[in-house]
Order: sequence, then C-alpha cells, then structure tokens
Amino acid sequence: MEAVRIAENVYWVGAIDWNGRNFHGYDTPRGSSYNAYLIVDDKIALIDAVKAPFVSQMMERVRSIVDPKDIDVIISNHSENDHSSGLPMLQELTDAPIYASRKGIEHLPLNYGPLQLTKVNDGQELNLGKYNLKFMETPMLHWPDSMFTYLKELGILFCMDGFGQHFASSKRFDDEVDQGALYEEAAKYYANILMPFGQPYASAMEKVKGLDIKMLATAHGVIWRTDIHGILRLYDKWSKHQTEQKAVLVFDTMWGSTEKMAMAIAEGITAGGVTVRICKASATPRSVIMREILDSKAVVLGTPTLNLGMFPSMADVVVYMKGLKPRGRFGACFGAYGWSAGGVKALRELVTGSGLELPFEDLEVRFNPTEADLKRCHDLGLSIAKKIIMG
Ligand code: FEO
Repeated sequence: MEAVRIAENVYWVGAIDWNGRNFHGYDTPRGSSYNAYLIVDDKIALIDAVKAPFVSQMMERVRSIVDPKDIDVIISNHSENDHSSGLPMLQELTDAPIYASRKGIEHLPLNYGPLQLTKVNDGQELNLGKYNLKFMETPMLHWPDSMFTYLKELGILFCMDGFGQHFASSKRFDDEVDQGALYEEAAKYYANILMPFGQPYASAMEKVKGLDIKMLATAHGVIWRTDIHGILRLYDKWSKHQTEQKAVLVFDTMWGSTEKMAMAIAEGITAGGVTVRICKASATPRSVIMREILDSKAVVLGTPTLNLGMFPSMADVVVYMKGLKPRGRFGACFGAYGWSAGGVKALRELVTGSGLELPFEDLEVRFNPTEADLKRCHDLGLSIAKKIIMG
C-alpha cells in the first residue's frame, strides 16, 4: 500500500476501513477512514495515528516514503480511540515523542499506560525546517483534548474530527467523489458527532479566522480542497441549529394504531405545505433519524403503550437524541394505547430536557383510531406545519 501525496512533501498515510459498520452506535454503511499525515522536512512529523487493527496498513504507507525510525515527532490531535489506539505500537516502531494538548497528555496514559509524551500549548509553534506547524486547542471538537494543527506555509489545516465523514473511498479529495454521497455523509457525521458542540465550533472558527486555508485535512473521509467554503457554510448553519421547513416523524407501532395516527399526522403536515420524513424507529438506524433531525424544525414522536410505558425502540431514539442536544426545534408526542395508557406520558417525560420544546398537547387514542381521531391527527399535522412556516 502506498502513501498518497497531497502537497509538496506532505502525504496521506492513513487507513481505509471499508467494512466498519458501526461507530459507537452510529451506523456507517459506507465504512470510514482513519486519516494520518506524514510531513517530510528536516524533521519528519506524523500527524495522528489510526485505530489499532489498522496500524499495519498505515505503516506500509509510511514505509513507502520513509523508514519509520526516521520519524521525529508524532502529533496526536485527538485522544479518542479511533485515532489513538495505534499510538503505543507506533511509538514502539518509531521511538518518537507524542505531542498532544494538555488534556491529551492527561487522557492518553489513562487509556494506554506510560507513553513518551510532550505537552503543547494553545498557539505554540513547531519548526520542522522549511515548514512550521501551529497548534490550536479546539476543545469539544469532539473531546476536551482536541486540537487543530495548521501547516502555515501550505495552508493545510489538520482539523481532526471537524468536517469529517464516515465515508470509505479509494479517492482522497472532495472533488473526486460522488457529491451527493459526500454531503450526505458530512451531514450525518455532524448530526451524530458534533451537533452538541455548536458553541465550541464557533470558538474554534474564531481561532482560525484570517488563516489562509487551502485544505481541510480531516481525520475521517475525504480532504476538502475544492469546496472549502461550501462545507464551512454548512457547518455555520448546522452549528447555529438553522433548519428547513421540514418535519421528521418518528414512531413505532404495536398493532398498527399508532402507525395509522402517524400517517394521518404526516398527511396533515404535507397538506400544510411542509416536507415530512417518516421513520419507523425499529426499521431505521438511530443515526439516520439524527441526520433527518439535523435540518428539521419539528420532531414528531409517536409510541404505543407497552406494559404501561413507551415502546423500547422509541426510548432508544429519544435517549440517543437527548445526548446530541438538538436546539431551536420543537416536538410533539402522540400514540395509541389499549387496556392502559402510559406510553405517551413516558415519552413526554423522556423528551423533556432534550432541548425540544413541546408546544402542543399530547394526542392519544384508545385502541383503534376512529375517523374523528384521524381528523384530530390530521389537524395536529396542519398545526405543526403552520408553526414551522410561521417560524
Ligand atoms: Fe474520530 Fe472523536 O474521534
């Protein structure tokens, strides 16, 4: 396996995970990549590592350019395991010190035991010869230790999880891949990884303001070299929780009654002039639901009652969503029950505190919805659409 030259004396030496299908609960149907970069100057720097099972793939690429023993410094921009679990092996192979932020220095030994570590401060620079690196702490993108590394002379921002995509490809750049798939994976990545961190993102952007960025060298997926402004515009919108005139309706059903309600509500939303995406919780990965929530103003949630509580698949969705803290959106709860209610009440209680406002009364039906019940559902859909359109 060969390294890929991305600029003069700068190489991609990462690993492609074609068959990875899950990233801590996030479905990754297109796989992923763990990107690492080699800068060959008077000093040789390796930026980031890969997940432990992929070290041999990475080292083959490194060896196509240099002897690993010639690497002078390893820079760890982020201590999460997908980038750091290969570090102990890499340190053994290279005997190079690992540079990391203050929090990175704290995290890495807790995961891997003793390592040869050097702390770098926010704004600190490192001269490699012709090239200079600047380290910028970017806490919570996506962990407290995260930092960006900027290669000043070439305008390459090694931006870690920022702007990434779980998107395995034999291509390395944004302009070389299917654009629909690329932007879909970028949106899904933001929704499932970075959605809670709009404010830290804004702070990171303050730090890079004024830098001449010619490449966003991500830690996952392809490198942005052509549509840098496009992805920055999208991140600006997503980080401010700006949404479309769209609702996502997530439900599950036991004997079909909640599904009938869901369809009637969705009809009402459509009749009100708003786009709706319907997701049955037990048939849709939670990460796909989050991607739909990313650009939806309303999140409509429906559950049947099971043993006096909500359906487990809906609890899964809401617990996952709560952790990702969607803001600036509103919700509505509905559902059917039989011999006893309880599901919708439990749903409302769980949604409370998620960041979603719940401006409508819950809508509940006992057993099979009547025509009058379905009319109430349709009317709720119309009201939801009206509220979305009114902003
Ligand atoms: Fe790609 Fe937060 O790890």
